[in-house]
Amino acid sequence: MPLVTSTDMFKKAYEGSYAVGAFNVNNMEIIQGIVEAAQEEKAPLILQVSAGARKYAKPVYLKKLVEAAVEETDLPIVLHLDHGESYEICKACVDDGFTSVMIDGSKLPFEDNIALTKKVVDYAHDRGVVVEAELGKLAGIEDNVKVSDREATFTDPDQAVEFVERTGIDSLAIAIGTSHGAYKFKGDPMLDFERLERITGMLPGFPLVLHGASTVLPEFVDLCNKYGGNIPGAKGVPEEMLKRASKQGICKINIDTDLRLALTAAVRKFLSENPSEFDPRKYLGPARDAIRMMVQHKIRNVLGCSGKI
Ligand code: G3H
Ligand code: 13P
Ligand code: ZN
Repeated sequence: MPLVTSTDMFKKAYEGSYAVGAFNVNNMEIIQGIVEAAQEEKAPLILQVSAGARKYAKPVYLKKLVEAAVEETDLPIVLHLDHGESYEICKACVDDGFTSVMIDGSKLPFEDNIALTKKVVDYAHDRGVVVEAELGKLAGIEDNVKVSDREATFTDPDQAVEFVERTGIDSLAIAIGTSHGAYKFKGDPMLDFERLERITGMLPGFPLVLHGASTVLPEFVDLCNKYGGNIPGAKGVPEEMLKRASKQGICKINIDTDLRLALTAAVRKFLSENPSEFDPRKYLGPARDAIRMMVQHKIRNVLGCSGKI
């Protein structure tokens, strides 16, 4: 099966009250680990490439690796640009054969975000590519930021409706309290489910996206720290909250940090236990296995998309 867009995937996910995992890829082992897990679980899959990943691996490498995954499996796979910040990068990815792009104008004023997003939608839709955009800002934990100030950056439901109508986007990333990276909450994790319900109620059937959705699994943080790492106080989104979100209109759940932690924990452990080893295959193999197991767990136990191909 060739690369697909997320249109059907999201329709089925919305109707079935589950979410599709969107995993960030940077190299071969990460792609293989994720794809093996999805294949095992017979799950639809979104592989996403950030601008940083594209720069790190050079554009053609990740595209070809994803094509290899498509050739090897019969899975529906979306190749998606994560956080495209300009029209130019979105255009380049559309031209390169991505089936989905994100234009992230969330830092811009509302009208400018609309204008930029609309320009990308016009280009992408003419070529059969779908577009995700973002409204609201994903705030991280910062000292002295009051809860009310943090909430002021969350997605406004009325604006969300206007944004979707005026841009013609295919999915919308919203801010309800998640953030990128390993430090999402200082105290108890809190997501604004009431806001999510209002947005879903005003945009029935429309696919919403949750960024910053890593759980920061303690088992990997602990392993990293046990074998020479120093990642104190890391805290992510509890899996129960992700399950709840996936039943409330969130059709795409973005995970990168959990992949990074799984990989790093496996490499740290292996090299600590085998200090004289220097064959990269010896430590990247276990890292790939760790990714496969983590992704399989997410697909089966959290996202609910096992068997949904
Ligand atoms: O949301 C950001 C993703 O985790 C990608 O991160 O820009 O460092 O590749 P990156
Ligand atoms: P995490 O940092 O929580 O994994 O979020 C990843 C993400 O949103 C990629 O766009
Ligand atoms: Zn993101």
